[in-house]
Amino acid sequence: MASLLSWLFSNTTSPSSIDESFTLYQHIIEEGDQHYIAGCLAELLTNSGNAWPPKATHADSWPSALKPFNVVYQRIAPFLPVHESSLDDAENRRLINKTRALITALLEEEIHIPDVCETLEECSRYDSHTMPMSGWLGFYSCLASLRHAYRWGVLPVVREAQNEKTLRFPRELDIPWPYIQRRVGITSPGGSLSSNSYYNLDARREIVYSITSGMGEEHSRTELWNGLLFVEVEDKALPMYCHIAQAARFLEDEDYPSTISILEKANEELKVAFKHFYDNMNDYNLVPSLWLPYCQGFQGWTLEGINGVSGGQNILIRTLDSFLGIRPWPTEEEEALHLPLAQRNWLNCLRKFDIRTLAQEKGNEEVIKQLDHLVTQLRLWRMGHMRRMQRYQVYRPERNKMTAGKSLVQDDSVQVSDESAMVNHLKQMLSPSEYEMRKRNEKFAKDAKEGKKPTHMSRQEKLAKRSPIGSWALGVVLFVVLGGVLFELARLIFL
Ligand code: HEM
Repeated sequence: MASLLSWLFSNTTSPSSIDESFTLYQHIIEEGDQHYIAGCLAELLTNSGNAWPPKATHADSWPSALKPFNVVYQRIAPFLPVHESSLDDAENRRLINKTRALITALLEEEIHIPDVCETLEECSRYDSHTMPMSGWLGFYSCLASLRHAYRWGVLPVVREAQNEKTLRFPRELDIPWPYIQRRVGITSPGGSLSSNSYYNLDARREIVYSITSGMGEEHSRTELWNGLLFVEVEDKALPMYCHIAQAARFLEDEDYPSTISILEKANEELKVAFKHFYDNMNDYNLVPSLWLPYCQGFQGWTLEGINGVSGGQNILIRTLDSFLGIRPWPTEEEEALHLPLAQRNWLNCLRKFDIRTLAQEKGNEEVIKQLDHLVTQLRLWRMGHMRRMQRYQVYRPERNKMTAGKSLVQDDSVQVSDESAMVNHLKQMLSPSEYEMRKRNEKFAKDAKEGKKPTHMSRQEKLAKRSPIGSWALGVVLFVVLGGVLFELARLIFL
């Protein structure tokens, strides 16, 4: 155990943060034996490169047959971004084909597929030590970056590529992918917030698979913060995860004073995490005119109706939604597309425990109040994020409108300050994806064939009946559109 723990911190930054992190990790791993929620948290760490935020290691930690994938990415990276996008479809088609041909040629030149298969078979064996989990995470990041690079061909992404519904990938990008899917526990053919952000930073927290090579300092800074902000909020959130796991145990034991005091701490820690978000999601770190064309576009996927990376795949907000019972939760199938198994297990554990229902049953007013305070903070954060994210929804003539998380948005008329367009955009963000619809139709046909009753309440009916999200979203939109004064005041008071 001591050697595992010292290895965990071999790459962290300052001496004091090493000490603090060491104590916290040790604590989480020890607590893991005491209660099943703490156990899920400990497993989240052990399956995330023995760290949280996750720690991925890259080419240096991979077996030799896999290292050339890194070489190929680094060689193609400078050819991806352009300063000026062309508005000519034929010219863009030529550019996309050129990049794809280059990627294919380099993959054929550098990668020996039989060796790759043999190595991945060996690494996948249950008792294998050939590649640590951190290495798998880094390899996932590399392959996802190569697949996204092949998918888009040029950055900013252009409608000529967006209009493709299916795409054949070179076999060097297809063959290793199922190994990664099985090991990490995801089903999407494309990247996720985990692969493209959490696992795409090295020990010094610099981007490993860059997409803004040669574009200049502002582009690089925006690209870095697009990943770093997600990682840094997880740094701040880890103590809170530890405390919410403890709160569950104390409440189950009906130890109310301890439950209350630990939830008070969790509230304070959440404030710190959100403050970090507010302080750093600014126009200097993330230049609004550059974020959408140079960061967000690449994260989309949109093939066969499957979504790409979305901020919604981050763990802090999903943890809060799961812990506090904010429904609807994504279906297991939808969540499995992008969230590694260890992350899903953690969320499902919190959902199953359902602390707010238990607190209602126990009837301790102060516990309920502390949990409600977490809900208030989350609601305020959502409003703040929604307001800030408007600055990043800029118009780009070379592409169709697309949110990274919800594939193509059909309505091209969205303007930032237009109230109805914002409502429309939100409605689309919260509506089922093409992939969800297809899966649902398949299930309907199967149930009908098997003689089961295939009809359920529609999603809209369910949302209208149970979910606070629809009306909540509308409330948020009104709030956003009516201006930020109220939010800034509330933030001053609460945070
Ligand atoms: C780095 C700067 C960020 C920008 C520019 C940004 C922008 C956006 C945009 C445009 C969306 C709409 C959906 C989409 O395109 O996928 C979105 C959704 C979302 N983002 Fe962010 N985001 C940023 C950082 C973060 C961070 C750090 C978090 C978590 C702490 C976060 C959490 C979310 C969540 C949870 C959603 C889904 C909507 C919701 O549940 O409220 N974002 N973001």
